[in-house]
Amino acid sequence: MGGHPVNCTVDEAYDMSSDHQFKGNIDLSKLEKVLQKYAYKVSYVLHTVTCNQVGGQPVSMENISDVSGMCKKYGVLFFLDGARFAENAYFIKEREHQNAGIGAIVSGMMSLADGMLMSGKKNCLSPGGGFIALRNKSLYEKPLPYSIAFIGGMEYGGMTGETMEAFAVGIREGIEEDLLAHRVSQVRYLGNELKKIGVPFITPVGGHAIFVDAGKWLSHIQWDKFPGHALVCKLYEEDGIRCVEVGSLIEGRDPKTKENRRAKMELVRLAVPHRTYAESHFDFIAEAFNKISGKRQDIKGVEFTHETYPLRHFTSKFRPI
Ligand SMILES: Cc1ncc(COP(=O)(O)O)c(C=O)c1O
Repeated sequence: MGGHPVNCTVDEAYDMSSDHQFKGNIDLSKLEKVLQKYAYKVSYVLHTVTCNQVGGQPVSMENISDVSGMCKKYGVLFFLDGARFAENAYFIKEREHQNAGIGAIVSGMMSLADGMLMSGKKNCLSPGGGFIALRNKSLYEKPLPYSIAFIGGMEYGGMTGETMEAFAVGIREGIEEDLLAHRVSQVRYLGNELKKIGVPFITPVGGHAIFVDAGKWLSHIQWDKFPGHALVCKLYEEDGIRCVEVGSLIEGRDPKTKENRRAKMELVRLAVPHRTYAESHFDFIAEAFNKISGKRQDIKGVEFTHETYPLRHFTSKFRPI
């Protein structure tokens, strides 16, 4: 739509070993600077809970509340990307409000936003689908024609009845504390296995994935030869493990200069699907890293054979250099 996103994440998010408990937080002074200058043309502030781009890191209730307050002050809409709202609530319980129930924390988070974007596939355990929730009716009416034209009527938003039923059950099941504890413990298990063999990754471990520091592990590959993507390819080639680069490949090119933009971190995301894996799967992944470890100097960077635009990381083609 021609919009320009401005990232206001706290600096600690880019320090892989900082033990900051809420690396998904928005830095209020960064946000205020942007709003002071541009509030008149900011469509909305989006807080992603948990923040995928910096490692599935949680956002504190205090931060959601402060950002919500700042948005009110500047008259800007405040939205949550709630794809992983339940994991975020679990971390708030673990680190900020130990005596609160997950349901109450979720209600508290939601009460602070003007709206929410929700992908059903994550914490709602749905096979697909999603929704946009809006607090007031006039706001709700704005996107409706687009939904009807491009996705489906407002009653079903392009989802099948079966998907909506699964979604409805998943909304409740997804906030069960036992389920969340198990999920987070699975991710931590994978982290521990990788730590044993010296693979560097973002800590504290987030809610849905391990984010490997490919820039460090493959430090012989220059950032613009995409060390993260080279590792992704190697893991698939060796053992059929599918993961994704979150680094300079995703960053794309500067729209003006057309130069590659350098990401702050060259990561590989090992995402853990809900209720799918057992410990032996994680052992298998760790073993794959172990096999590669001794010969990782042989891994070469990659270059484009066909580069697409936009969202080049989904559809481009590469060869090893
Ligand atoms: C935080 C977040 N929001 C939204 C989405 C998009 O979800 P969907 O593919 O259901 O549109 C993703 C996908 O990975 C995500 O991680």
